[in-house]
Amino acid sequence: MKIKAIAAVALNGVIGNGLNIPWHISEDFKHFKKTTTGHVVVMGRKTWQSLGEKPLPGRENAVITSNPSGIVNARAFCSLEKCLKAYKGDDRTLWICGGAALYRAALPICDELILTRVKFSPRGDVFFPKINHLFKKTKTLKRRKLFNVVKYVSRNKSGLGVSK
Ligand SMILES: NC(=O)c1ccc[n+]([C@@H]2O[C@H](COP(=O)([O-])OP(=O)(O)OC[C@H]3O[C@@H](n4cnc5c(N)ncnc54)[C@H](OP(=O)(O)O)[C@@H]3O)[C@@H](O)[C@H]2O)c1
Repeated sequence: MKIKAIAAVALNGVIGNGLNIPWHISEDFKHFKKTTTGHVVVMGRKTWQSLGEKPLPGRENAVITSNPSGIVNARAFCSLEKCLKAYKGDDRTLWICGGAALYRAALPICDELILTRVKFSPRGDVFFPKINHLFKKTKTLKRRKLFNVVKYVSRNKSGLGVSK
């Protein structure tokens, strides 16, 4: 099992406004879909709500919440640790896909981060955590007018998650 994170962050660090992402870039949505399809998407309860509580198709959806019985149509776990345990040995990648609370908890154990760097500063109230102490940039995967997609790897020498 590999643990990776994927996010889109604006110049001012914004990733969300209320429950929503304050931009719509269809090429970036396609990139998110292509990257995560066939794998497991792990999200916080508010991000799940922002999807209308409908699973992202073609992926196993896992929601982290203190109230797992409140989640229908997705697997639910009361902690990130329980989620990691459940997928131990799984061939798929666990894609940590937000929001801010889950990124804060999970980024320290991610092997890799794929970050869409959005080239503007929208209004918002949910921010991406600081990552420089955790990751180093390795490659720019896409360069577009409105965004770049950048790959980072963990500074942790092994580059491995907590539980392989
Ligand atoms: N730009 C992007 O790439 C991106 C991606 C995803 C989401 N977003 C945006 O991010 C915002 C949501 O982020 P958020 O930080 O407010 O909420 P969130 O991380 O989506 O969800 C927070 C909730 O998830 C549960 N949770 C998260 N981490 C946990 C942990 N380590 N242990 C136990 N439970 C945990 C808790 O649920 P309970 O309260 O049920 O216990 C917590 O209240 C929205 O605006 C969304 O659109 C942006």
